Amino acid sequence: MESDYTDHKGRKMAVSLFSSAGIGELGIEKNAIDVIAASELKGDRGKLYNENFPETKMFVGDIWETKEDIINYSIDALQNEELFLLYATPPCQGMSTNGVGKLNAEARNGNRPAEDPRNRLVLPAMDVISKLHPRWVLFENVSGMQNTMIKVAEHGEPVRILDYIAEQLGPEYAGRGEVLSCADYGIPQIRKRLISVFTRDPEGIAYFRANDGTFFPSDERTKPVTLREAIGGIPPLDAKPGREAKKDFHPLHYVNILNPEKYLWVTHTPEGDTAFNNQCINPDCGSQENPRYVDKHQEGRWQSNKLTPIYCVQCGLLLPRPTMTDPQSGERRLISGFHSAYRRMPWDEPSRTLTRNFPFEASDNKIHPEQNRVLSVYEALVIQSITDYEYRWEIGGKPVTRSLIAQAIGESVPPKLIDFIVSKMLRISAGLMRSSYQAELFDPK
Ligand SMILES: C[S@@+](CC[C@H](N)C(=O)[O-])C[C@H]1O[C@@H](n2cnc3c(N)ncnc32)[C@H](O)[C@@H]1O
Repeated sequence: MESDYTDHKGRKMAVSLFSSAGIGELGIEKNAIDVIAASELKGDRGKLYNENFPETKMFVGDIWETKEDIINYSIDALQNEELFLLYATPPCQGMSTNGVGKLNAEARNGNRPAEDPRNRLVLPAMDVISKLHPRWVLFENVSGMQNTMIKVAEHGEPVRILDYIAEQLGPEYAGRGEVLSCADYGIPQIRKRLISVFTRDPEGIAYFRANDGTFFPSDERTKPVTLREAIGGIPPLDAKPGREAKKDFHPLHYVNILNPEKYLWVTHTPEGDTAFNNQCINPDCGSQENPRYVDKHQEGRWQSNKLTPIYCVQCGLLLPRPTMTDPQSGERRLISGFHSAYRRMPWDEPSRTLTRNFPFEASDNKIHPEQNRVLSVYEALVIQSITDYEYRWEIGGKPVTRSLIAQAIGESVPPKLIDFIVSKMLRISAGLMRSSYQAELFDPK
């Protein structure tokens, strides 16, 4: 293994695990902390990471195989200085609350092992953490991780991941996992995530004690930023040929063209509602009495309601609701979908959680509050707070594909949240927040 490393002497250092393209890292480097090593399974994400953080040693591959190299390289690069932060964002697909119903159904059908092997990636992560002994540990994951159980030993009983982390860290560390919404920290997005902060820093331990064990006291939350405030001033686009891009404004301010049918459904969807509730557009009828779409929770998952009418109950004309011609019966029927599909976001709330599917109109809550289109890539960058930082979407001087950008955004941690957390860790470690925990520091119980 290569043992060359950039000299980081005199600087605070971090190691990142499951780093993807390094979006969250923007919030670490903003605080003058050098990320000395990072790791990622997928080559294209690793390359994009390297473009943006050329000083960081990126280990591409499965962490089960790269962990020893990550440990050895980091020990070398640390040159006997401490590691300030270990930042780990394991993949969430195996834990996502969104996908629990689907995962359970797949497990029941025998298509997937009951325990998703991705949930066990915390094991190699803890091996790295134990060896590098960081001052602070920060995990980010979907809130579903709170109750996710894993088998640590082949024949052992499953344990909660969070309990496993705390046990592995041992009594030297204090901290816990907390579910918070990014919207409370200046990010224009209701993105609920489990943020777990642990520390062995006496200042940090005293801080936790003085604040009932939380790193996120409620008085630090800020007023949510609405979509209107975040993207209201961006030039309009329309998902029609010739009107779908404003590249003079920003090369990433563009959207897909919608086919005429979808365009019609979207055009008739009011702010905050879904196209499944669209009413009659026959000028001689215009009935607003057509039953609305109701989906049902059954067998642990949401099921679409096939009983929602697609023809106007008054005049019988086809409603502008998402429908298709069934290939078998040749009859028109409602497209399978849920209450959040083909839904326009409201202007005066933060955006709903961005996923890698944000460029698609059928994805959850992704229609622009007022214009006939989904969010542009540029708007997604704003909503994920990436435009507050500098990031280049290029590899070797060539722009990367929109698919890679969408994956990187959808799976990323908003850098503004990481910025907030890391700057707070630094202030606590520097003793700058002592007023709130002076007594605990000098009189530990
Ligand atoms: C939630 S994303 C990380 C997001 C990142 N922190 C950011 O802010 O952009 C998790 C990443 O872990 C990677 N991953 C999944 N399995 C892995 C494995 N076995 N070894 C290393 N990385 C893995 C995925 O490819 C994915 O990019």
